[in-house]
Amino acid sequence: MTARTAAAALTVSSNPLRDPRDRRLPRVPPPCALVVFGVTGDLSRKKLIPAVYDLANRGLLPPGFVLLGFARRDWGDGDFEEVAKEAAKKGARTPFREETWSRLAEAIRFLPGSFDDDQAFDTLARTLQELDASHGTQGNAAFYLSIPPSAFPTVLAQMQRTGMADNEQSGAWRRVVVEKPFGEDLASAQELNALVDSVFTARDVFRIDHYLGKETVQNLLALRFANELFEPIWNRQHIDSVQITMAEDVGIGTRAGFYEQTGAARDVLQNHLLQLLALTAMEEPGSFDAESLRAEKRKVLSAVMPPADLATGTVRGQYDQGWLAGERVRGYRDEDDVDPASRTETFAAVRLEVESRRWAGVPFYLRTGKRLPRRVTEIAVLFRTAPVLPFSATDTEELGSNQLVVRVQPDEGMTLRFGSKVPGTQMEVRDVAMDFLYGEAFTESSPEAYERLLLDVLLGDASLFPQNEEVEESWRVIDPIEQHWRERDEAGEEPHLYRAGEWGPRAADEMLAREGRAWRRP
Ligand code: BG6
Repeated sequence: MTARTAAAALTVSSNPLRDPRDRRLPRVPPPCALVVFGVTGDLSRKKLIPAVYDLANRGLLPPGFVLLGFARRDWGDGDFEEVAKEAAKKGARTPFREETWSRLAEAIRFLPGSFDDDQAFDTLARTLQELDASHGTQGNAAFYLSIPPSAFPTVLAQMQRTGMADNEQSGAWRRVVVEKPFGEDLASAQELNALVDSVFTARDVFRIDHYLGKETVQNLLALRFANELFEPIWNRQHIDSVQITMAEDVGIGTRAGFYEQTGAARDVLQNHLLQLLALTAMEEPGSFDAESLRAEKRKVLSAVMPPADLATGTVRGQYDQGWLAGERVRGYRDEDDVDPASRTETFAAVRLEVESRRWAGVPFYLRTGKRLPRRVTEIAVLFRTAPVLPFSATDTEELGSNQLVVRVQPDEGMTLRFGSKVPGTQMEVRDVAMDFLYGEAFTESSPEAYERLLLDVLLGDASLFPQNEEVEESWRVIDPIEQHWRERDEAGEEPHLYRAGEWGPRAADEMLAREGRAWRRP
């Protein structure tokens, strides 16, 4: 941060005339340390460190900021700084500038230690106090648990033992950031929630679902609640069905250890897709503060019902070898460290309903998969057909249903499809599309999800973080599905195979075809 932006940051945060609701001014957090456990891991190198750099580059980190890495490596501050620099150069969204880096480098520290090492945690607690004197952090700290869930209990117990989670004892704020997956079913999530809540106060716990940090996802709220156009028709009278797709062309890469235990439903459906459903289906909150927003999401999630018939309302698939972008790729069972007889699903599709006055009877089809033809996430709202069509059947042959498609990524934006007259002497009506593209409408590029969410943690703004009740409601929906698939496993049934590069198994198409519908081809 330059001296000028630092001064500006201070002016903004301490200006008594500033309306705190005015979000046009940059929001700069108070001095603080960000402690990352598992700082040598993938997430940290690919997402967290680049996000910290981007925030620094945008002048959004306070003077008195420290990034403190903790991991089981025999490293000094300098070694970590080198790794962090590489990570920032490779992954940052904004241009790499030596000037920004050298200022940030002064604020980078590393502490070696394993999670069961009392001495290392005593040193960490002491370091946090010393950082106030050396860097002016005022004792504030956010702890990012970028570690396997199995290590949570040990790390949380260490934080409790050393008092570093205690706001009163440290005389400052202490927050914890927990990565998904949060538990592996409802019972384990409840256990974990109880554990985290016994160490940190509920308002200091930030559960990350990085989809909520995406601009396009937040835009769903603007779209629905800032306009008069959509909300009056956003209900069962006008909407036929909703399709939420998160497709990836990548396979599982080097994450076999994690993925074999997790599968597509726990990895993506339970969190990202159900959060997208919640934002699509929720009622209007009284305001956009964390409490009101989460209350509405919780309400709608509690009305989501698992498929009444699990056999016809769920499909699990696994990718087989195939071709993607002109390259031959391996099947899931041939990936490194995957059990050759694995039944882990890499594709999941489910049919859910929301039992509310607004949505009763409207199916929400959710699907996610790896090794699909391309990376795309979208929410498609499909409208009913007009009750009467005063045209001949041939004139409307190429008229489909009206659709509103929110493109979460890539090509961030929105498409509205509707019928229009084809120029000519006939009254022929055909589908046309109207497009809104972020890249064209705005000059500013969107922050990365982790950039936005890290900033919110340091600001103490919890609006975009699911609370534990939401996580538990989501497991309530997923648990019976996982249970059903376990039973099918025991009965010797395999997941449906699909060739890499195809849009999932045929069974997923049949699930919709049985109801007279078809998946959109995004
Ligand atoms: C993560 C999942 O939460 O989201 C990964 O664990 C997935 O399996 C990733 O690849 C996708 O994120 P994005 O932002 O690239 O859509």
